[in-house]
Amino acid sequence: MTRVETQPHIRLHGPEGFAAMRKAGQLVAQALDDVTPLVREGVSTQEIDDFFWAFAEKHNALPATLGYRGYRKASCISLNHVVCHGIPNAKPMSSGDIVNVDLTLIVDGWHGDSSRMYVIGETSRAAERLIDVTYESMMRGIAAVKPGAHLGDIGYAIQSYAEAERCSVVRDFCGHGLGELFHDHPNILHYGRKGDGAMLKPGMIFTIEPMINLGKPQVKFLSDGWTAVTRDKSLSAQFEHSVGVTESGVEIFTTSPAGMHKPPYKA
Ligand code: MF3
Ligand code: CO
Ligand code: CO
Repeated sequence: MTRVETQPHIRLHGPEGFAAMRKAGQLVAQALDDVTPLVREGVSTQEIDDFFWAFAEKHNALPATLGYRGYRKASCISLNHVVCHGIPNAKPMSSGDIVNVDLTLIVDGWHGDSSRMYVIGETSRAAERLIDVTYESMMRGIAAVKPGAHLGDIGYAIQSYAEAERCSVVRDFCGHGLGELFHDHPNILHYGRKGDGAMLKPGMIFTIEPMINLGKPQVKFLSDGWTAVTRDKSLSAQFEHSVGVTESGVEIFTTSPAGMHKPPYKA
């Protein structure tokens, strides 16, 4: 018998799944809005984690990272050259830091997963530019989502733009299907070629979460086993939305109710 390479089946969700994702996505987006005033000089990332823990409890939701593969915090908070999975700690943040807060909530069994960048005080022009390029990369990836497009079109849209802006795309982490599972098929690569990979169909739900570096794309892990940092210590930024493929295009579940899309955030 010839062995057939099978593509893992990509789940298709119906209107109930989309409604549940809207609810979970909006709650996590509200949490990202509400942490904004806390992301300032002198505050520790643990204090943000504590705030999010209380937010989840108040809204009958559960932070999905708690206990996930042994991870012990409610959030991931990644500063400066930390690419992702920064573990909240007691160290106060400083002026000039650029900060990614990545929050995932389980609401009625469904996962809303989103992250945004924040700036402490004033930062460098280079850091501001990196944040703008990263946001635009994510939005270009999202704009490539429609029925009949391919997964590779998303990666191509992100990579071609980010590299034209003299930034690099991290390869070691990707977006993911989600819904009642936190990390489901398919992998969403943030680099790639047009037309490659599975074809998108209405009902697919996944995240797009590019990590973009000012320097080279390589990462390494700190001894805690979680924190990923750039090998060359260059700054790294990330944004993440949870999205669904609709009949006509794409729906973003995690849009900010307060219009806080990217820094600077007006109070
Ligand atoms: N929220 C992250 C993501 O976007 C996953 C964090 S898993 C953890 O997929 F264990 F590191 F928290
Ligand atoms: Co994610
Ligand atoms: Co996330």
